[in-house]
Amino acid sequence: MSETIAEAVARRRTFAIISHPDAGKTTLTEKLLLFGGAIQLAGVVKAKKDKIQTRSDWMKIERERGISVVTSVMTFEYNDRVFNLLDTPGHEDFADDTYRTLTAVDAAVMVIDAAKGIEPRTLKLFEVCRLRDIPIITFVNKMDREARNPFEILDEVEQKLALDTAPMTWPIGQGKSFCGTYHLAENAVRGSDTETKTTKVNGPESDLAAGRLPENERATFIEECGLAVEACKPFDRTAFLEGHLTPVYFGSALRNFGVRDLINALGSLAPQPRAQVADIRTVEATDEKMTAFVFKIQANMDPNHRDRIAFVRVCSGKLERGMKARLARTGKPMGLSAPQFFFASQRQLADTAYAGDVVGIPNHGTLRIGDTLTEGEQLVFQGVPNFAPEILRRVKLEDAMKAKKLKEALQQMAEEGVVQLFSPEDGSPAIVGVVGALQLDVLKERLSGEYTLPVSFDLARFSVCRWISADDNAELERFISTHRGDIARDLDGDPVFLAADGFSLNYEASRWKQIKMVAIKEYQ
Ligand code: G4P
Repeated sequence: MSETIAEAVARRRTFAIISHPDAGKTTLTEKLLLFGGAIQLAGVVKAKKDKIQTRSDWMKIERERGISVVTSVMTFEYNDRVFNLLDTPGHEDFADDTYRTLTAVDAAVMVIDAAKGIEPRTLKLFEVCRLRDIPIITFVNKMDREARNPFEILDEVEQKLALDTAPMTWPIGQGKSFCGTYHLAENAVRGSDTETKTTKVNGPESDLAAGRLPENERATFIEECGLAVEACKPFDRTAFLEGHLTPVYFGSALRNFGVRDLINALGSLAPQPRAQVADIRTVEATDEKMTAFVFKIQANMDPNHRDRIAFVRVCSGKLERGMKARLARTGKPMGLSAPQFFFASQRQLADTAYAGDVVGIPNHGTLRIGDTLTEGEQLVFQGVPNFAPEILRRVKLEDAMKAKKLKEALQQMAEEGVVQLFSPEDGSPAIVGVVGALQLDVLKERLSGEYTLPVSFDLARFSVCRWISADDNAELERFISTHRGDIARDLDGDPVFLAADGFSLNYEASRWKQIKMVAIKEYQ
């Protein structure tokens, strides 16, 4: 019997991993995929530092620099659950891409290096999750190395993130003696991830728990387990789902400890696909009709085919191959003839996808970030953010004859979200904006590689950019006409105010109180 929409939705878990570079995200991803049978051998996702083509890195520039630029999606099954893992770029220069990806997940795994605790990038990503009330499961990694005391780590999470912690497991030993995890609520032990099941014991003093440790470490372990149960908050599902409490797991992704605890937690604790807010109503994941939104565009994933894939998160209903969808922005129908799933190493045609699933839709520029697809309903999902760029540049073309081609190429790059493009009202050449400098390198690389357009960048006289609006349209028009030389339009034709620096921005904002100047625009 084929499964109902509600059954399919109940099986799905869509999540991302957030961490500071080097905490072990890649290693953990690989182990999760390994359990899900999505890859056969460890070391495939990981090979980035050896400059071998990796499964989640597509672009040459990432391989050259050993960083992960693009967001990839990996689907795998484990214990009858379908997991959609949305990978995010590790480098902060691609933060806007990461933030958009987080709009498409229902939960996040926060990986912390046991020796380092909460690091700056973890904090930043956590804040984005908090804005969206995304429930977080914490994985304290690298327990096999010199690590901080677990209580100290829990305390740091509570202090720095203002997030309650509920330790679910406790590490049996630390550093060299780390040899398994103890399940505090279940009184059960897992020696390593090769053990598919935990073993029930009488308490932490059992031979299978404390008994595994050198004699001088046993008392501390028993005492800590007791304290963890008595002094720490118990797991509270409501508080977790509301983003106020995080269950904490300890382990070592590299040495195969604690990852199975984590994947089980994702299956049992993490929420099924959530309802999504649209302009006219909230869409339930179990609604009959298909709805979806685009959170990422990726071009040329396969260098042999110049293709452009829109990553779409299904929000309700059933997305079926061959169906006709309606693109809300244009109102036009769009055939979904070849939606695709991503399984770490390969893509596969997606016959049916449900809420929480992420499918790739090949297209030639029809779809943009933030677009909504429905079965006909006039509805637009809210909340995919666009961040004001922090670096603004004019693109200088080496061959001035190719200006038209450059214009087209920049338009495409902007539609993909590689850069933002602003056309000044005074007719001067377009300005590109990025959040991080590496994005400019990607632009340069792609313009030369894909469009044979060698370019360089000139400083623009602006360094700050804000979207402007006003309740009174006449006031907005007055602002625009008085500042014509400092106004540009984004890809959607929305006006932005360009300022030389923060000081001039604040000055104008204080003089024009009715003009709203915002640094984040949500795609509509
Ligand atoms: P990232 O994606 O978050 O940047 O981290 P990644 O998985 O690449 O891991 C960063 C480094 O930490 C790697 O070492 C990796 O092997 C190591 N690592 C990850 N998990 C654990 C763990 O549980 N225990 C220990 N001891 N190390 C761990 P590297 O030397 O930078 O790379 P490699 O030479 O090992 O490939």
